[in-house]
Amino acid sequence: MTHTTIESDSSTAVGTLPSLEELWMPFTANRAFKRAPRMLVAAKDMHYTTADGRQILDGTAGLWCVNAGHCRESITAAIREQAGVMDYAPPFQMGHPLAFELAQQLARMLPKEIDRVFFGNSGSEAVDTALKIALAYWQAKGEPQRVRFIGRARGYHGVGFGGISVGGIEANRRQFAAQTMPAVDHLPHTHDLARNGYTRGMPQHGVHFADALEEILKQRDPSTVAAVILEPVAGSTGVLIPPKGYLNRIREICDRHGILLIFDEVITGFGRLGASFAAEKFGVVPDMLTVAKGITNAAVPMGAVCARQFLYDTVVNSAAPGIELFHGYTYSGHPLAAAAGLATLEIYRSEALFERAASLEKYWEDAVHSLRGLPNVIDLRNIGLVAGIELEARANAVGAPPASAATGAAPDAGRSGRRCCRQHG
Ligand SMILES: Cc1ncc(COP(=O)(O)O)c(C=O)c1O
Repeated sequence: MTHTTIESDSSTAVGTLPSLEELWMPFTANRAFKRAPRMLVAAKDMHYTTADGRQILDGTAGLWCVNAGHCRESITAAIREQAGVMDYAPPFQMGHPLAFELAQQLARMLPKEIDRVFFGNSGSEAVDTALKIALAYWQAKGEPQRVRFIGRARGYHGVGFGGISVGGIEANRRQFAAQTMPAVDHLPHTHDLARNGYTRGMPQHGVHFADALEEILKQRDPSTVAAVILEPVAGSTGVLIPPKGYLNRIREICDRHGILLIFDEVITGFGRLGASFAAEKFGVVPDMLTVAKGITNAAVPMGAVCARQFLYDTVVNSAAPGIELFHGYTYSGHPLAAAAGLATLEIYRSEALFERAASLEKYWEDAVHSLRGLPNVIDLRNIGLVAGIELEARANAVGAPPASAATGAAPDAGRSGRRCCRQHG
């Protein structure tokens, strides 16, 4: 086994790392990383400590997931305690109280129409679960021909085969295109730099982008469409904020044709937009809402599909006696994740972090827009505690930066300063 020595800025060796060879890193340029590793060894509140002893600001709140800051005492205590009481319980045909309690607490935080919760371990699993629930619902309802899904260009819905199929990031799909889901169409994205440049909050122009849904439905028999899935604010592809009226119109069109609407709130949930969820912020309630990341403040992996009761009732009540939905994960509602989730929701409530995010929105907006005029900046846009700084791409330059760089801030950004970041995906 080889070892890598980490050196500080002053070229003094301060730590020794294990071999870097065996680990195949996700969404990473492995060769480049292993030539120049960027290693983190500790985290507290808004800062990481690097292996060479530096403190760095966590401008991305992890990957948009550490909404309340790192290593919060009450969350780590809850995980520690639960690990000593019951480390694991099977979620199939058995249960444990914390998972039920978390589902109840979550339902109280969600829009009132949404009150059924199915747990998984990640955003990708939540998305694939939501797509399966949509199919199961239509079968139970006696419309099994409703199998088509409609996603959106520049949408990110994780990396499961369902997620990359409805997702709109070509690079994530290319290698796997031979086996992605066949019955999927994509709406155009809503980014309109020419007309909406430097918008504060929701752009004025672009409600018409929703009409593309009617166009797709003209080509496809609407009675074959199961669901539309969207990120209310696209995160990973550069902070694309919905134009005024756009989400309402999508909802209206779905209602007109009896199509389910799924909001992927893996990033927008838990305060990032200055509200509990984007559904609340924009006043548009979907039929299902996927969450992950901030549900446990990222301390233990967890994801969930949150659904309206009619979906649960239709699938569960119409089934023959026995298992109603042949889907679930070994770690659905894992006791440590449930403990972390309960402690996290308590922090959001007791510290009023969503309200804090809302109170910081104007400050954040002014700070972001003060960057106007800097070299290569071609757009600035913001909502809640999220902002996009779009940079001009360098023509023909190897390794040129992407057209968009995203920034985000945790609802607790006021705790010790503001956050600024680039995002993966
Ligand atoms: C909107 C959205 N959906 C799904 C996912 C996938 O989540 P995970 O990486 O936990 O599978 C992400 C991750 O960034 C996301 O931003």
